Amino acid sequence: MSGGISRRGALSRAVLLGGAAGLTAGAGGTALALYRKPPAETPAPVTVEPFHGPHQAGVATPPQAHALLLALDLREGVDRDALARMMRLLSDDAARLTQARPALADTEPELATAARLTVTFGFGPGLYRAARLDAPVAPLPAFAIDRLEARWSGGDLLLQLCADDALLLAHAQRMLVKDARAFATVRWTQRGFRRAPGTSGTQRNVLGQLDGTGNPVPGAPGFDTALWRPDGGTTLVVRRIRAELDAWDAVDRPVKEMAVGRRLDTGAPLTGTNEFDTPDFDKRDGLGLPVIHPDSHVRLATIGDPARKILRRPYNYDDGPRPDGSPDTGLIFASYQADVERQFTPIQKALAERDLLNKWITPIGSAVFAVPPGCEPGGWIGRGLLGQ
Ligand code: HEM
Repeated sequence: MSGGISRRGALSRAVLLGGAAGLTAGAGGTALALYRKPPAETPAPVTVEPFHGPHQAGVATPPQAHALLLALDLREGVDRDALARMMRLLSDDAARLTQARPALADTEPELATAARLTVTFGFGPGLYRAARLDAPVAPLPAFAIDRLEARWSGGDLLLQLCADDALLLAHAQRMLVKDARAFATVRWTQRGFRRAPGTSGTQRNVLGQLDGTGNPVPGAPGFDTALWRPDGGTTLVVRRIRAELDAWDAVDRPVKEMAVGRRLDTGAPLTGTNEFDTPDFDKRDGLGLPVIHPDSHVRLATIGDPARKILRRPYNYDDGPRPDGSPDTGLIFASYQADVERQFTPIQKALAERDLLNKWITPIGSAVFAVPPGCEPGGWIGRGLLGQ
């Protein structure tokens, strides 16, 4: 072979060059485009949620598709002054990132998009101890159904990050945790998801149920009293609840519907036909038995007084199957209410004692946080508590 280049060698070079020869093989030698711009996508609708205001965002905000909940533990010696420094930093990060602006010294500024990002801060009982202040929240009492694991429970500081874009969440998390590292260590991380952005109607959970129908609606009588404390703050309960899906699969639809008191397809109460029909707990069937079982989930969880309702903002989780193939999935149950003891605890107590659904759900994590009010531009979350 002349020049010392074998036919085989020339072929390999052509392959390594990505078949470049073929790209110039068009008529007259005109190069074909190597990259093609995909057809334009429909632009996303509103993508920015306000950060500043009397209340923190991420509470009454319509839930985004993805959530990342991070609980941090304060490092030894972090006192009120240090907490104030940390919250100034983290509030600044949140104010920027939620408005699609890079954080200060952001190493990946291109990732600072908006996608309805919200960052919500919660203060656990330990944070108040570190600041030598009285805590408005205490850990929940023990419930017989609990099988709590330390790796999903407690925490001094909560960051609830929600967005319609999981990459943005990963970025926001990294920026915030970077700035928190001098003050705190990460205790747990929980990732959750809801239905895709842009779809409408009540979301479903991993048990297949419509989840959220009975939630109080902003603007309804009693809503503000139920949700906000006089200073504009609120409280948050996070419960990681495993769904026993193998056992759930083993029962038929009538049993599943009886356990909740609502239909699986439409979400209608067993006494009605549409999702938002009011359940009739007094209605009896031909045998004189209540149509909605007295120990069904909705019967026990329904609160008549609008000012005592809780606002559920749960996310599904799915950690993939365990080695034996059984599902590791469930609900990151999150509820906001003005007062945990007055609103959340009585519901949880009634459910823990009798809820038919308990056969298929197991609480494995639990944490409680006070959620301070929002702040104005130039302010920071927690200033009323930690500021001078
Ligand atoms: C994995 C655990 C849970 C599942 C699968 C679940 C499922 C459901 C379903 C399907 C409904 C009916 C539709 C709706 O209104 O959303 C419902 C309602 C409700 N649940 Fe749960 N739930 C769970 C845990 C809890 C917990 C821990 C609490 C509070 C302690 C709670 C409180 C409520 C309340 C207040 C309602 C609305 C009742 C009403 O109509 O006023 N749930 N839940």
